[in-house]
Amino acid sequence: MVAILPPTTAQAPVVEQLLDHGFGPNRQNKTSYRFRDGVAPIQSLARVAVSGEAVVGTIQYWPMRLGRESVLLLGPLAVWIGWANQGIGGALMATSLSAALTEGWQHVFLVGDLAYYTRFGFEPSSPWGVTMADEQQHRLLGRCLGDAPPPQPGELQPMRANSAATASAPAPASVTTSAFFK
Ligand SMILES: CC(C)(COP(=O)(O)OP(=O)(O)OC[C@H]1O[C@@H](n2cnc3c(N)ncnc32)[C@H](O)[C@@H]1OP(=O)(O)O)[C@@H](O)C(=O)NCCC(=O)NCCS
Repeated sequence: MVAILPPTTAQAPVVEQLLDHGFGPNRQNKTSYRFRDGVAPIQSLARVAVSGEAVVGTIQYWPMRLGRESVLLLGPLAVWIGWANQGIGGALMATSLSAALTEGWQHVFLVGDLAYYTRFGFEPSSPWGVTMADEQQHRLLGRCLGDAPPPQPGELQPMRANSAATASAPAPASVTTSAFFK
């Protein structure tokens, strides 16, 4: 049986191995990693998929800025190839997005394949006028959580440590968990 849990500190090395396996050892050259440089991941939203002692999947989130709003950068998401197509990626997505909704986050963005992420309510960000510099715009996807209105147009910016915005979750929005799956 696979359980979806918050990661422990001891699991950090195997999570890194899993990410190298999923994205290759040069993954840190990706544009989205510029948004992670010097910024702590949001510990409360990270999850691992665990079978016995083995970590078989991982998902993490980072904070970014969109204008004055703190928004989420979803990813990386990875599942060991031997465990693929068993719903583990979907379970990691659903569990962590539900936690993000509970924390009051309103907008989540990621760089990935629409063909995979559309099932989780993600759509292209370009119609909203939301962009990420140096990234293929058709791969920049986003979704509103709960009853959140569409995001304001603008260019996503890294959440630097000296930024005026904070990395903590925004004040809880007046949304219900049932509003999560639209
Ligand atoms: C993408 C990934 C996380 C999916 O994990 P998973 O546990 O196999 O996902 P699920 O079991 O929830 O879903 C499997 C379904 O997603 C589909 N799928 C997987 N990757 C896909 C992709 N890139 N595009 C479209 N569909 C995809 C599978 O074909 C399968 O379809 P089906 O339900 O119609 O059979 C995993 O394949 C992975 O780690 N890939 C390498 C890293 C990566 O690409 N991460 C995502 C960044 S875009």
